[in-house]
Amino acid sequence: MEEKEKQSLPEISIEQLEEGVQHVNNPIIGLKPIEKRYLQSVKEYKQVNNSFYFTDGESTVEVMVLSDEIIRVRMAPQGTFLEDFSYAVPKLVNTATVFSFTETAEDYRVETNTVSCIIDKKHFLISFADNQQNIINEDLSAMHWEENVDFGGYYVYCTKKGHPGEGYFGLGDKPTTFNMRGRRFQNWNTDTYSFARDQDPLYRSIPFYIGLKDTTAYGIFFDNSYRTYFDFGQEDQDKTSFWAEGGELLYYYIHGPHMMDVVKRYHTLTGTHPMPPQWALGYQQCRWSYYPESKVKKLAQTFRDKKIPCDALYLDIDYMDGYRCFTWNKKYFPDPKKMVKELSDDGFKTVVIIDPGIKVDENYWVYKEGKDNKYFCRRSDDYFMEGHVWPGRCQFPDFTNPEVREWWGGLFKGLVDTGVAGIWNDMNEPAVFGSGTFPDDVRHQYDGHRGSHRKAHNVYGMQMVRATYDGLKKLYKNKRPLTITRAGYAGVQRYSSVWTGDNLASWDHLKLALLQCMRLSLSGVSFCGTDIGGFTGEPDGELFTRWIQLGVFTPFMRAHSAGDTREREPWSYGEELEAINRKFIELRYKLMPYIYSTFWEHHKYGFPILRPVVMLEQDKIENRAREEEFTFGDKILISPILHPGQTSKTVYLPEGKWYNYWTYESYEGGMEHTAHAALDSMPIFVKAGSVIPEWPVMQYVGEVDLEEIKFQVYHAPYEVNSFYYEDHGDTFAYEQEIYTEKKFVVKGDDHSLSIRQFSEGLYTPRYETYDLKLIGLPFLPTRVIIDGKEQQVELEFDALKRVRINANKNFKEIQVLS
Ligand code: GLC
Repeated sequence: MEEKEKQSLPEISIEQLEEGVQHVNNPIIGLKPIEKRYLQSVKEYKQVNNSFYFTDGESTVEVMVLSDEIIRVRMAPQGTFLEDFSYAVPKLVNTATVFSFTETAEDYRVETNTVSCIIDKKHFLISFADNQQNIINEDLSAMHWEENVDFGGYYVYCTKKGHPGEGYFGLGDKPTTFNMRGRRFQNWNTDTYSFARDQDPLYRSIPFYIGLKDTTAYGIFFDNSYRTYFDFGQEDQDKTSFWAEGGELLYYYIHGPHMMDVVKRYHTLTGTHPMPPQWALGYQQCRWSYYPESKVKKLAQTFRDKKIPCDALYLDIDYMDGYRCFTWNKKYFPDPKKMVKELSDDGFKTVVIIDPGIKVDENYWVYKEGKDNKYFCRRSDDYFMEGHVWPGRCQFPDFTNPEVREWWGGLFKGLVDTGVAGIWNDMNEPAVFGSGTFPDDVRHQYDGHRGSHRKAHNVYGMQMVRATYDGLKKLYKNKRPLTITRAGYAGVQRYSSVWTGDNLASWDHLKLALLQCMRLSLSGVSFCGTDIGGFTGEPDGELFTRWIQLGVFTPFMRAHSAGDTREREPWSYGEELEAINRKFIELRYKLMPYIYSTFWEHHKYGFPILRPVVMLEQDKIENRAREEEFTFGDKILISPILHPGQTSKTVYLPEGKWYNYWTYESYEGGMEHTAHAALDSMPIFVKAGSVIPEWPVMQYVGEVDLEEIKFQVYHAPYEVNSFYYEDHGDTFAYEQEIYTEKKFVVKGDDHSLSIRQFSEGLYTPRYETYDLKLIGLPFLPTRVIIDGKEQQVELEFDALKRVRINANKNFKEIQVLS
């Protein structure tokens, strides 16, 4: 109630700001009037290295140049800044080498090669322009604040001009239209069982958005872990604002001009996902819960009998003894080590759930250790924070304390010794039955920057999964762990994959799944997925199959369902659908080397894995409303079927030439086409000029030792680069350049096709040859020249105009001529 009222306090105009203070009747409980204080005219400035400090006599604003394209702004209402600490940005790397500062009668300008930050002296308004002096983003009114009489500190506000047609994207996984224009959101991690379209807030807080003004993209990352709000022209279409219930008004302006540039630069601040173990990109089967052991083994056996590939099986909370974390229910799982080993021998990894609530039980070692070492959170008056979760009465570790994180990481030793390969971190918003979450007064160590739960709430889950990831990394030695988390804050990608929580088995949720994953991908969290089939409710077979199809193209692919639903595996809906589900899960494995390469591009270069079309062609205004097409990496475009009974749909293909993945028919881009997709198909298109690596179907990652690797090469009437990556698949040797990174350059015309290959890295795959399948040649090939030598190859030119050739994996150039 209180927050709602606060959101709608009237804004005041610059002209009204003579005194800099406005008294507004407090609408809450008739308390004393709220004081809104605005920055006043700038009186002076000083420069310290790459930071400029501007003051109006009382308040100070710091403008820090971080790179040619990133400028950080922060405000200290009383002139004293808070400690410069952020969980999202672990290290501020300053790469700006050249910038200038100028002063005129009206303003100050801090300029890099790309961006100008202009500080208007009279009204203390801040704006950002490109190097052609086009204003991209500007304050509508000066930054302002209100005192928080209950907790100390301030509610802090920033109000920007909104422009006609400006689009807004990102902000985590809000379950709403892709373009957020006209809407208002809140960030406060919340356990939202069976959430609905437009429900807000959900489980994660990522206070970062991309604005698209005319055809220029920019980003705003409001790095504030308190409850934050974003209004994208809902209250007033000419205004975009963001504010927080505490902390500092601190944001990064990230220049584009392309959306891709913004996302990549956001990743330079907050990091990317580490490379996952490759098996974690396979199909994963989950349910609340598979138990006892005999059921888990039967599940595994059925996958193998039915030849449906699967890499991981999940154990939900019932594997524990009375829901005590780090224990096993010995009745259901009498010998977990043996079971996990047997599953592993059959190619299955075992992933188990862990919750933050630790059962209050004097006979339980985890509770005892936590209690003795004072690792659990306390209220303001020193009592323990207690709440009920699955095990009943619980206390909760303070994951914002590094010592607690270290302890927590070590608790996984038993599970790791048992052979568990991944940890699923749940309920870490943190969720508490009844009250929802912790009360505001709970205290947190916050890595030495102490604060209440108001400050720590949104980072709690991220710090839990950080502790988990770091602990597993140590315990696994050089093996990569898989971690999954439900809650998170900006930067969570450095420690974990994310799933979108307790969704619902409905067609609208299938669409939301697509929107949420695209949006997460733009918000730094590329390794994301949804509960395939919907967590609550009962999907029919058609919906389940269409969800599997979308799942092939979400980076994290896991089916999951609630305990009160019917069991749901790829074979649960009869033979016909089982065959289709198999076909699509197999497709995931065929595309595995492409998916893995795309992951590397994310990890190393900060590219998002899923790319909505507006990101590919941001200058076409109509693309802002296209919510269904996206590319996985930059070569494969997907437009999933999202409606019951639908067997065809209109698909927009961006400029250039495209091929239908199934039929090899070619299409001109820059326009819409009708794509047919009966239930056993889905619209998938490949960009002309692409080189797509392919694995043979295998039942799990690593089952088959590759004797050669296949590549599909799609002819293009122009030049296109493709990218291929390979490494051990499960070690950290890639950090020492033990990998192979290949670039293919494909160039074609009406009579020829050439493929050039460039390699980097120290990893040598065991296979020697490539099996290249050339697709869409507009001519009948007669000659093949590899590295300058004419080859005697039998060209298999089939009805679909495909040509197969074999080549040594180290070739430099192949020419195919008519
Ligand atoms: C939460 C999770 C869900 C899990 C359940 C039981 O609702 O979101 O995925 O199955 O708890 O652990």
